[in-house]
Amino acid sequence: MAAVTALPVSLSARSFAYFTVKDRLPQILTKVIDTLHRHKNEFFEEHGEKGVEAEKRAISFLSKLRNELQTDKPVTPLEDELPDAALWNQYLDYQRNLSNGNGEPSWFQSPWLFVECYMYRRIHAALAQNPPIGSFDVFKEGKAQNFFESQEAIIALCTYFQELLKNIQDLDEKQLQGELFKLLQVSLWGNKCDLSFSAGEGSSQKSSPLQCLEDMVPYIIVNDMERLWSLLINAKKRNTDKCNVRVDIILDNAGFELVSDLVLTDFLLSSKLADEVHFHGKSIPWYVSDTTKNDFNWTIKQLQSANHMWMSRCGINWEGNLKKGVWVYHDHMFWTLPHVYSSMAEVAPDLYADLQKSNLLLFKGDLNYRKLTGDRKWEYTVPFHQALNKFHPAPLCSLRTLKSDTQVGLKPGQGEQIQASEPEWMVSGKYGIVQFDATP
Ligand code: F6P
Ligand code: MG
Repeated sequence: MAAVTALPVSLSARSFAYFTVKDRLPQILTKVIDTLHRHKNEFFEEHGEKGVEAEKRAISFLSKLRNELQTDKPVTPLEDELPDAALWNQYLDYQRNLSNGNGEPSWFQSPWLFVECYMYRRIHAALAQNPPIGSFDVFKEGKAQNFFESQEAIIALCTYFQELLKNIQDLDEKQLQGELFKLLQVSLWGNKCDLSFSAGEGSSQKSSPLQCLEDMVPYIIVNDMERLWSLLINAKKRNTDKCNVRVDIILDNAGFELVSDLVLTDFLLSSKLADEVHFHGKSIPWYVSDTTKNDFNWTIKQLQSANHMWMSRCGINWEGNLKKGVWVYHDHMFWTLPHVYSSMAEVAPDLYADLQKSNLLLFKGDLNYRKLTGDRKWEYTVPFHQALNKFHPAPLCSLRTLKSDTQVGLKPGQGEQIQASEPEWMVSGKYGIVQFDATP
């Protein structure tokens, strides 16, 4: 991999990133260790002494990891033999070369994105190397809790949506556009419910997600919803029987956010703005609340069997979409590598080629935005297209609340103006973007 010269510096473990590495990552590790402790009896009941031994080994591996982090030790190569280990270690070599012979890059001297991803990958190794508890998801409880605590909001959203479906065929274009914009915003603000931001503390959707959308419009600092609409409506008009309109959604967090994404994508199918939707989730537990295949299926099952008519109607329809093949779930190891998306064509050409088949890629959340823009200290006014640095498999759109120090595509002076009154604007999760790039 050639060294990057013409790009701004990576966000390193300084400022907000520094706070994340110093405080939040150890907190997350401590929670993971506690979770394993709490499940000791369960492991014993399921696997006997072997389960308890595995739990002890995983805890000792994780305690060592926490110590390496807190004492700013070098980031060491992965020693497991999981399928992605070689790619990780190549990436680590690349980081070493970038440090120009200044020794082994340590936790606080490495790019933030890299060490954060590395921590989640080591958590995965702690479990995966210790059968019989290898497939235990240490973040499962938190994700389920977020779902249950968001129950009222989920009911409100499912009810609204099922009412909408009753007369969706009769809506004119203007009304259809209005509904799309509403559901895009619900999905955007659903991204506030991420659990890595709060180091795993609750972050559920308490109020009705539809109620205060109007009031929140001023906080959408890049709003390309009109452009998204044009793309979808033109694709629908051009659409013939031969060519399906395909939308891909690169998922972020399970819990309320996932439900909001499923409602949005159901709307795209029901309104015939799309004919098929492809979901992309994580193949290992990631950033506390990111969606895995288990979370995806669990969520649909929960809705299906809910004691509420409209919730369960959603769940039944969604299960049907999967069976009919108009919804397709994928996972790919690339999404849990530390690589930024401009290297996808080289590192995961199969995934890049698959995304090229799409009419529209929706990237949910902050981490996806960081990887889209290379997690660099861009000037705020740099065009989104430029920050994507040749990542253009298909027209794409980021729906993200700001939780890290990177933002592009603002108008001159816009960022500085917000900064003057709200120094924390880039990391508070209060602002959002719907940022589109059409040029493949
Ligand atoms: O900054 C907080 C943080 O944990 C970042 O590390 C990460 O970019 C983000 O939250 C995860 O958020 P999201 O779930 O929106 O990708
Ligand atoms: Mg996330």
